[in-house]
Formats: sequence, C-alpha cells, structure tokens
Amino acid sequence: MIAGNWKMHMTCAEARIYAATFLPLVANSYPDREVILAPPFTAILTMAEVLTGTGIKLSSQNIHWEGNGAYTAEISPLMLLEHNVNYAIVGHSEPRKYYSESDEQINRRARAAQASGLVPIVCVGESNQQRESNETERVIRRQVEQGLEGLDPARLIVAYEPIWAIGTGKTCASAEANRICGLIRAWVGASDVIIQYGGSVKPDNIDEIMGQSDIDGVLVGGASLDPEGFARIVNYQTIK
Ligand code: PGA
Repeated sequence: MIAGNWKMHMTCAEARIYAATFLPLVANSYPDREVILAPPFTAILTMAEVLTGTGIKLSSQNIHWEGNGAYTAEISPLMLLEHNVNYAIVGHSEPRKYYSESDEQINRRARAAQASGLVPIVCVGESNQQRESNETERVIRRQVEQGLEGLDPARLIVAYEPIWAIGTGKTCASAEANRICGLIRAWVGASDVIIQYGGSVKPDNIDEIMGQSDIDGVLVGGASLDPEGFARIVNYQTIK
C-alpha cells in the first residue's frame, strides 16, 4: 500500500507531465501493490481523468465531516466521491501543527470518510521532544484511542509518521518503526489492519522498510514528487 502525498505541490499542468513519466514505469508493477496518489484538491479532477484504467487510486489530503455547509475552505466526502476518490488522509502532522487539529476533529473526519465509503489514512506520530522525553508510546496510544474510536479497522489505514522524520531526511530506524507499528496494531486490536510508515521514505531505504513484518506500506511526501523516484519506491524489491 504505497501512497504519495504531494502536499501543496503540482499544478494540473505539472500533474499531467508527472503522469506521463510515472505511469509507464509502474504499468508492470507487482499485482500485490496498491498505489495511491494524494494530489492537492485542485489537481484531483485532472488526476482522476489521467488515472482512469490504470488501477492507481486517488486520495484527498483531508476531508470534512459534513456533506455540505458553511465551512469555508473545507471539502466534503460527497465532493470527493464525485471524482472517484477512494481514500482520505486525515490527522497529518502538518494540519495537526499548523491548524491545531485535535484527535476529536480527526476522529470526526475519519468517521465521515468511512460513512461515505472512503478509506481514511489516519496519521499518528510523536514529535522529537516527545520521543526524547520517553512519551512516544503514550502519545501514539492516545492518538490511536481517540483518533480511531468507533472506526471499522477493516476499512482503515493507519500511518505511523514520526514528526521528526517528516521532510527532514532522518528516517526512523526500520526496526524501531516496525516496533511502533506492531504496538499500533495491538492497540487497534485488529491483526489485519493496514499500517504504513511515513517519514523520509526514499528509493534507497524503501526495500529495508518494506521488509519489516509490521509495515504494510508507506506514505511518501517529498520523494513522491519525483516520478522516477516514486516509481522505484512502488517497485520495491523486498519479498516478505
Ligand atoms: P516526507 O513526508 O516523505 O517528505 O518525509 C512524509 C509525509 O508527510 O507524509
């Protein structure tokens, strides 16, 4: 389950150029991999057209809990479903940090996604300061318990994204990422819940990351902006 989060990058014109390079490189990927792209909202319609028939799925980068209403700047599940979006990232550390998203809001977004038939990708992870003060497990457990409350684990992806590893080039050691993903699996209470790792995933560390027993996929930011590098990530070599 390999997802690329483009964040606030890519105009529609750039997205078309990206797709022209990326799609041929992943056309013969192993059938065991699900590939997801999360463009900015403005490029979703373009990408929905370009990805038709490729098997690659679309995700939004956020989702609101209401179907419509006076919520300036928000996007509802209905608006996403209209463009064949299947997934919705919620609780990413950037909206948590810049817009003070709470676990309660994240839970409402994720529930609305599931209620409308979308699969939420719920991000959890500790800051550097929390890791250094030995609060990692407590923080993530709270995010899991509050953020995932009432969700169906069979239609859910949890992304473990240590904040200190996002966009910094510092990857969490794969054994440690695997340990935390195993704890998340236990706290969710469903052995088959899909768990991704995210944070400075690149072509040169993907094989090791995907070799970990509790890591079912990755959520890739910066490295997903390069179509050739992201294709290499999709075509990772590890056989579990
Ligand atoms: P990064 O971002 O791959 O650039 O570290 C990951 C993310 O924010 O999901």
